[in-house]
Amino acid sequence: MSFLDMPDWGHQFARSILTALREKDPYTYGHCLRVGRNARLLAQEAGYDEKQQTIIEFSALFHDIGKIGIPDSILLKPGKLSREEIEVMKKHPVQSAEMIRPFDSIGFFKSLLPGILYHHERVDGKGYPFCLSEKEIPTPAKIILIVDTFDAMTTSRPYRNGLNTEKALEEIIRCAGTQFDPDLAKLFVESFPQWNQYEEEITETFVSEHFKKSA
Ligand SMILES: [Fe+2]
Repeated sequence: MSFLDMPDWGHQFARSILTALREKDPYTYGHCLRVGRNARLLAQEAGYDEKQQTIIEFSALFHDIGKIGIPDSILLKPGKLSREEIEVMKKHPVQSAEMIRPFDSIGFFKSLLPGILYHHERVDGKGYPFCLSEKEIPTPAKIILIVDTFDAMTTSRPYRNGLNTEKALEEIIRCAGTQFDPDLAKLFVESFPQWNQYEEEITETFVSEHFKKSA
């Protein structure tokens, strides 16, 4: 077994953490599953090997788990957040990474940290929490940002309706080079319509099957 291989309890670990997230906030749970699947597919399109795809998928599955620590009054607030509440929300990439860090003596878990920690950094340096730019941002984090933002735009929340696929893809292109890595944004927009045709809907069963398949 090599340094970056997932330990055989990796899937149980993911299910356990994601079950806690589902209890806290079912929307964020579903979001993490979709982002995990799409991050893997985009990594595949970008030419990453199987092992790297699994690392990117699991970084994406865990990217928002730190929201478990955000008070319900903020995380589940049905309206606009205040400036103070936005600052609390912005702590979640660090909080997500802190939940994985106790396992960083295991190569696989250590390799998840960059994707998790930097998934809100933008190529123009206006992201958070570290204001990194372009080459400073690891590719897994750039992949997660694109699929994460797309998912957030296309899902409906109690306070707003989601955009349709076409409009959301236009938005990804519009923000290529400022928010998103331009090459990855182009690849996503070209590839996404094909994924929808052959991927089944994400359900509990899909996840467990998917975990078995990638085991
Ligand atoms: Fe996030």
